[in-house]
Amino acid sequence: MAGTGIQYPDHFITRLQAVWGRGFLSPGGAEEVLRIVEGLDLSGKDLLDIGFGTGGPAAVLAGVGAQVIGTDIEAQLLPHAEATRQASDHADQITLVLTNPGPLPFNDASFDVVFSKDSLIHVPDKGAMFTEILRVLKPGGTFAASDWLMGEGDSPAQVMADFNARGYLDFRMATARQTADLLRDCGFQSIQTQDRNAWYADLAAQEVKKVEDELYDDLVTEIGEEIMQEWLQIRRHLAEAARLGGLCPTHLRAKKPA
Ligand SMILES: C[S@@+](CC[C@H](N)C(=O)[O-])C[C@H]1O[C@@H](n2cnc3c(N)ncnc32)[C@H](O)[C@@H]1O
Repeated sequence: MAGTGIQYPDHFITRLQAVWGRGFLSPGGAEEVLRIVEGLDLSGKDLLDIGFGTGGPAAVLAGVGAQVIGTDIEAQLLPHAEATRQASDHADQITLVLTNPGPLPFNDASFDVVFSKDSLIHVPDKGAMFTEILRVLKPGGTFAASDWLMGEGDSPAQVMADFNARGYLDFRMATARQTADLLRDCGFQSIQTQDRNAWYADLAAQEVKKVEDELYDDLVTEIGEEIMQEWLQIRRHLAEAARLGGLCPTHLRAKKPA
């Protein structure tokens, strides 16, 4: 799928939401979103969600009081995210904006919190993105995110290199240490990373079983045997990459100096 421009066509959205729940294009649902912002009081806070996907995370964050502006770069996601917004009890707290990759279309010091769930993996120039995130945060503001990172060391790096060489998705991965160093170089402080590999390695194995046993027949009817067979292969490789410590969903927390 790498290189086609659109990375989340409708048939992919159908599959991902079947596994991860309506509104979610990443694992863990509302619980994992809330874990990323644990300890932050979001009530009445201006929050930017980079990569709104189909809108689940934005709805969860609005549910705990945030005024959410979500961005995404893929137009076909917007109707899905808009449906999630409208179904939310907090629709008036959510604004969805399509953007281009690159500079964020917001003034300096616009947000108390910048959030992102498993979206920065697609961003090739993480330094440029972190600099933009720092710029749009208010002084003392918080960056709270999850991203799919690569395990430390030669062997996890090889696992992900092998996965990426298959050309399934356009993943641009860094390790936790590289990410923390880059955040520091860009001007963030109080940087924390939390490796969620152990959690996701278990869950990814369960997801493969769920696709094989529960979801397969219905999804084949919806999107066809060929796409399903290829995707099942991808999911097996992804689960293996997590089991071997190559794929590490990681929570990131950092502050803009006051
Ligand atoms: C794995 S999905 C996660 C979506 C959502 N955050 C979630 O957790 O359900 C990654 C999302 O990032 C979006 N994306 C990729 N590059 C982006 C960028 N430069 N700015 C904003 N969104 C981006 C994709 O279009 C996609 O919706």
